[in-house]
Amino acid sequence: MTRGRDTTKAPPAHPGLRADPIYLDYNATTPVDPRVAEDVTEVLVREFGNPSSQHAYGRSARALLDVARARVAALVHAPSGRLVFTGSGSEADALALRGLVRERLLAPGPAHVITQATEHPAVLEACGALRDEWGVTVSVLGVDQDGLVDPAEVASAMRDETVLVSIMHANNETGTIQPVAEIARLAHQHGVLVHCDAAQSLGKIPVDVEVLGVDLLTIVGHKMYAPKGVGALWIRQGVALAPLVGGGGQEWGLRAGTENVASLVGLGRAAELADEAVAGGESDRLRELRDALWRDLVDQLGDRITLNGHAQMRLPNTLNVSIAGVRAVDLLERTVAIAASTGSACHAGDDAPSPVLLAMGASHDRAMAALRLSLGRWSTAEDVERAASAIAEAAARP
Ligand SMILES: Cc1ncc(COP(=O)(O)O)c(C=O)c1O
Repeated sequence: MTRGRDTTKAPPAHPGLRADPIYLDYNATTPVDPRVAEDVTEVLVREFGNPSSQHAYGRSARALLDVARARVAALVHAPSGRLVFTGSGSEADALALRGLVRERLLAPGPAHVITQATEHPAVLEACGALRDEWGVTVSVLGVDQDGLVDPAEVASAMRDETVLVSIMHANNETGTIQPVAEIARLAHQHGVLVHCDAAQSLGKIPVDVEVLGVDLLTIVGHKMYAPKGVGALWIRQGVALAPLVGGGGQEWGLRAGTENVASLVGLGRAAELADEAVAGGESDRLRELRDALWRDLVDQLGDRITLNGHAQMRLPNTLNVSIAGVRAVDLLERTVAIAASTGSACHAGDDAPSPVLLAMGASHDRAMAALRLSLGRWSTAEDVERAASAIAEAAARP
């Protein structure tokens, strides 16, 4: 059933998006939805209370946070458990990994964590810190040529001391969607908990913590039309974590620091809109646009172009391609008509090939050519047509 606005069309023009360059970098960050901005502004202007204060101002801010928390929990279908607000997705990942393992290490003994090679650096670096600071053993599993982890490999990496498996829902560079539900089922058979970074999948495809079967789930605001600098970690009831930051006891003592009420209200509104968008057919609209972009590029570039990532098990908004004979940085420099990325935004400006593509077995040249085109709420058929022509024209230049 379609709820809310008609998502077969892009909404009215966004005040922050210009006709030039065409924005094709929604996986790096999304514009704040004006409906979200309206709620955030309202709170900034009218509600300054500290949600921990006992008086009316505090109670009013607390009530706003409660509504936002319930909306975000509803987006991931999590009526129980705790949804802890954080200052970013990276922080939510760190709280999941470091918080869980450090809680376990309170009882002395070895600990082992399983993750995979194409995770976001926030997860890989949290694992590195656990290894360096706490002597934790980390298994980083490889992926196949489409970027998929084999659940059987997760099962065979299990040891008696394994405490956590961390596997992302969808990859930020290629959009490849991991078989998280299958991995979680296998992990639970071994009594091992599962963390999933859902930063990129929320608002693009359905995300349900019970369907995925995970115990910890990372949520990020600025990938789903909420402000930057807010995120959340959903924690299954009964899962204990050690906080990374202590202090005033906010967020059940799991994340000290006075909550960013206005932006979190924005996160709540964005969650509601994301739910409406997915239910209203936004995934199909994006898939159609993305596939039109791919067809246009293939028509113009023929066999010079290859798709990176899984052809089907992929986010509907993400197209990662390599064009033979041209490095993505050079292509983007020549293609002033589009704003896109050579890979993860975190690596932008860095001339090294994408580690995600290398982990998928791509050659150095193919990895250096990887261009990420990611669509979103304001993308239109006209954008896609213009972008394909601009890219093809730039790739044809000697
Ligand atoms: C998969 C994934 N996880 C985590 C993050 C980090 O989120 P944040 O920028 O809020 O720290 C990102 C952002 O690029 C991401 O794509």
